[in-house]
Amino acid sequence: MRQIKSLNNDWYFKDRFTQADITHYASLEGYASIRLPHNTVELPLNYFDEMLYQSISVYKTRILATALMVDRVNRIHFEGVMASAAVYVNGETASSHLGGYTPFTVDLTPFVDGHTDLWVVVVVDAREQPHIPPFGFVVDYLTYGGIYREVQLECLNPTHIQWFKAETHTEDHLHFHLDVLFQIKGSLLNAHVIEVEILENNRSIYRRYLTDDERIKQRVTTEKLSGIQKWTLERPHLYTLSLSIKTVDGVCIDKLQHPIGFRTVAFKSDGFYLNGIKIKLRGLNRHQSYPYVGYAMPKSAQYQDAELLKNTLGVNVVRSSHYPPSRHFLDRCDQIGLLVFNEIPGWQHIGDSAWQDIALKNVEEMILRDWNHPSVVIWGVRINESPDSDLFYKKTNQLAKQLDATRPTGGVRNFAGSHVFEDVYTYNDFVHRGDNIALEPAEKIAKQKMPYLVTEHNGHMFPTKSFDVDQKRLEHALRHTRVLNTMYASETISGAIGWCMFDYNTHKEFGSGDKICYHGVMDMFRIPKYASAVYASQSDDKPYMSLASSMYIGDYNASELGKLYLFTNCDAVDVYKNDHLIKRFYPEDSLFNALPHPPIVIDDLIGDQIKAHERFSDKDADVVKMLLLKIVEHGNHLSLFDKVKLGYLFLKYKMSYEDGAALYGKYIANWGQKSTHYRFVGYQKESAVCEITRSTESAFILTAKADQKVLVESETYDVTRIVVIHEDVNHQPLYYDQSIIRVQLDGPLEIIGPSSFALIGGVRAFWVKTTGTAGSAHINITSDRGQTIHLHLEIKMTEKNNA
Ligand code: GAL
Repeated sequence: MRQIKSLNNDWYFKDRFTQADITHYASLEGYASIRLPHNTVELPLNYFDEMLYQSISVYKTRILATALMVDRVNRIHFEGVMASAAVYVNGETASSHLGGYTPFTVDLTPFVDGHTDLWVVVVVDAREQPHIPPFGFVVDYLTYGGIYREVQLECLNPTHIQWFKAETHTEDHLHFHLDVLFQIKGSLLNAHVIEVEILENNRSIYRRYLTDDERIKQRVTTEKLSGIQKWTLERPHLYTLSLSIKTVDGVCIDKLQHPIGFRTVAFKSDGFYLNGIKIKLRGLNRHQSYPYVGYAMPKSAQYQDAELLKNTLGVNVVRSSHYPPSRHFLDRCDQIGLLVFNEIPGWQHIGDSAWQDIALKNVEEMILRDWNHPSVVIWGVRINESPDSDLFYKKTNQLAKQLDATRPTGGVRNFAGSHVFEDVYTYNDFVHRGDNIALEPAEKIAKQKMPYLVTEHNGHMFPTKSFDVDQKRLEHALRHTRVLNTMYASETISGAIGWCMFDYNTHKEFGSGDKICYHGVMDMFRIPKYASAVYASQSDDKPYMSLASSMYIGDYNASELGKLYLFTNCDAVDVYKNDHLIKRFYPEDSLFNALPHPPIVIDDLIGDQIKAHERFSDKDADVVKMLLLKIVEHGNHLSLFDKVKLGYLFLKYKMSYEDGAALYGKYIANWGQKSTHYRFVGYQKESAVCEITRSTESAFILTAKADQKVLVESETYDVTRIVVIHEDVNHQPLYYDQSIIRVQLDGPLEIIGPSSFALIGGVRAFWVKTTGTAGSAHINITSDRGQTIHLHLEIKMTEKNNA
């Protein structure tokens, strides 16, 4: 059997490499003890020099002779080292790898003699080396550095399975069969049998030995399988495919397993089909970066991003811009039913032929690594937003098809009429400027009838910070709404993937001068901005309602709140002012009717209040209300006709200017009104399911919540995010609060990043990580206003299996 051990603990790190690090491989002088995943330097949140991490550093670990196996293939598997790695074993060159987003394996076998420990030295060059994709020009993100994904030590029988690919096929979407292609390394004896097995919840549902012919062809086709549960977005049913080499008497000498899902995908000129059913793709782009530690985050953080996309943002697709993501991220997408656009590393620039060769290698490495993930529905085989390069892109497409004919290819462009070798015209559409069309028609861009997908929109067209004023955050949300609405209305656009899930650190050529691109629908800590609500409200999973306004009149010009937008999946919303029902509002009345759930627009906070409380006739009360609402929308610029009406009312009711201003103050601006409060009650099928209150408050609460209360060390350390919010009693964050928060930890936990910081937009989060010890940890979170919160987390160990 193959033995796989995590090799993430007991590494040593030095931030400046010298040749002596290789020759004196056993010396640990100047080294710090670290665990993987690791970033070469902890960065500030913003305003830093991105050259900080662009250096050559060195990592070392010692693998004990007892952990290695003579007569076996011994190798180390690196899941991702940025940006290039040279690996030495006991001072001798062992291997190297160019590119930070794909895995590689280093063969230790020649160094294994049964009694010598192996010192593995990894020289990591985190500089942006122009000969490696994505480098060569500028890129709008940081690539960080280090051994930032996990590492394993593998001991295998010399005869072992190198890889398998499981393809699921069906004609009727009821009966499936599997084609399993595989490659075996070493010499297969007649005395060996190969077994293919499908497991469901660890229970075998199909098993048989391969025929001689199948062994020779390295390909096995199962019989038609009945009773298969499909992999769908709602029920992403997973099976496990297991391929084993056994001796005739049943001893397993090698086994490889991977989760699989039975599903079909197709992009057609009228849209995207999953299992033969058309689905509009509604998604977001995701970078894999985190504050302070860059790319270096373990499984639970990768899982959480997938969960945030599916459960908090309610999207059905993510583009892993602009490179293949962590294996954990894909595993979680498989488990929860989130579709993935997976693409090769690159950004606008195409290098010389050696550079292109690495890009081609990236195509192969990506597909070989990820082809068994049912969540992956399309391969991106062009450098994001690069010009046409026919020879190069013919090759990337041919290679992708040759490796995996079951999935379509795309290649993300930013111009129309490009030469297309892919199955899907994938286009970043930034046409929307707020007052014009939201998306270009597919035919205008592709110049032909073919499958079409929008892979980016918004982003730099409207950067928005979580602490920007309400109007800006609302317009950000509305721009995403307009694009999604247009996509839903289109017969030819398969979907739209917005730019982007969260803000990210970037180079000085981009961003807001502080090395952050504020393009996210969430901030860097994954805290939602208003635009998140646009996505979340489209999902039917749970009742949802979010009001994109603080309703603080002082934040609005002339104290005019304008139209209010409730992003919700409710059928109707009742609006109450000081507990008097003003009116019931419906989504149908909004402009965004193509959306599954159009936002509910509240354009009347007066209702029948004037009729009820003022001396006007009912008819005149309606006119007064209409005029007041027009002033809210257009300011004092009433038409001549409306001015005449106003004059008539003033005369009829002998009103003074002050009387008019008082009406305005009472029903629109709420000047001098004692604690006006509004309540919004959302209904689904006539039952009240959500409620939001807005009121002017003086009582504020500091809250803190950990995403996970129990952290578990397994392959390596575990992390959890803790979100701190300073909010009013209605759970509205105090957007302009910059209180200082101090975090004190007691127990086996460390904080990632600084332990004191200012709130941003009234909110801030931080991550804590485990230290290799089980136990209880107590966290005290204090604000400089004297509020304190106490959290208690448990840390458990499953295995600490360093070699
Ligand atoms: C695109 C690019 C993305 C990001 C985005 C900002 O052109 O592909 O990586 O920079 O612009 O809106």
